[in-house]
Amino acid sequence: MNYESPRILLFGHNGQIAWELRRSLATLGSVVTAGLDGADHELDLGDGDALRRLVHELNPGLMVNAAAYTAVDQAESEPELARRLNADVVGEMGQLGAALNCPVLHYSTDYVFSGKGDRPWKENDEPDPKSVYGKTKLDGERALLASRADCLILRTAWVYGGRGRNFLLSMQRLFREKDSLGVVADQFGAPTWSRLIAEATAQLLAQCRTADGGFSFGEHREEIFHLSAEGQASWFDFARAILDAGNESCRLEPLATGEYPTAAVRPAYSVLNNNRLWQVWGIRLPHWRESLALCLEERDG
Ligand SMILES: NC(=O)c1ccc[n+]([C@@H]2O[C@H](COP(=O)([O-])OP(=O)(O)OC[C@H]3O[C@@H](n4cnc5c(N)ncnc54)[C@H](OP(=O)(O)O)[C@@H]3O)[C@@H](O)[C@H]2O)c1
Repeated sequence: MNYESPRILLFGHNGQIAWELRRSLATLGSVVTAGLDGADHELDLGDGDALRRLVHELNPGLMVNAAAYTAVDQAESEPELARRLNADVVGEMGQLGAALNCPVLHYSTDYVFSGKGDRPWKENDEPDPKSVYGKTKLDGERALLASRADCLILRTAWVYGGRGRNFLLSMQRLFREKDSLGVVADQFGAPTWSRLIAEATAQLLAQCRTADGGFSFGEHREEIFHLSAEGQASWFDFARAILDAGNESCRLEPLATGEYPTAAVRPAYSVLNNNRLWQVWGIRLPHWRESLALCLEERDG
């Protein structure tokens, strides 16, 4: 084993998952971030030349991409930018990874699925995204796989945590501001804490060390794994659990999707089946209610 710490280039710095990864990956190597605001290396991923220059300059032992265009509704009116950041850039990362012999770990989404059905989606179920965000994320998966880099894709879902733009923080604010609130009750997914995504990622990567101290996904290179909390919830169920855990007294009303129009179509049922993650890596996230309790305990503490 080489005792020199490998350089891990993390795309994203303040994002929900990136922020947690900066902590969770710190035991695996020397993490340097590239992103828009406050990152170790300022990088607009829209600039392909800057991306290439940075990757060649740093010559990392692993790239982890937690950056993306994640504004699901806004993507409908900015499809070119969403495509650039979610698809083209991911393909370029793969090409750089293949050329420099540097593995690439990338995140994707439950929104690659149509949402039709009532059985948790498996990795090899046919994707059929209905939004610009979902389509561009699927194209990003395909571009990365086509690059033939030593890569792995983790599809996660309904991410929340103590920082960033997310449903938990929005609900906590709205409960303070409003006496009643309508929340969509006919879309189902698995609310997943950003902290546990990052910790599961680190546990997976710890199993991918090579004899020379680097990383390789080995026989699982170019594979996709689902990584989300166990159980399922509607947004209404999730809101109810957040409300019940707090001190606010807001009245919650269940809404049908049609009563809460949004620019992007969201899947009605996007629960992921995480069995392969358990079978191959021995990693399983707890039930979403258990994770939410842990997250809230920290925020209250
Ligand atoms: N949020 C969800 O519910 C959800 C669900 C399923 C899958 N995912 C996937 O999980 C991954 C992480 O999502 P997240 O929720 O952590 O995202 P997020 O909180 O919205 O953060 C987005 C990240 O992308 C970076 N970024 C955006 N535009 C950039 C640009 N032009 N140049 C450089 N960096 C840029 C930001 O960089 P800075 O830190 O520098 O600002 C930030 O770190 C993404 O692949 C997303 O598709 C998210």
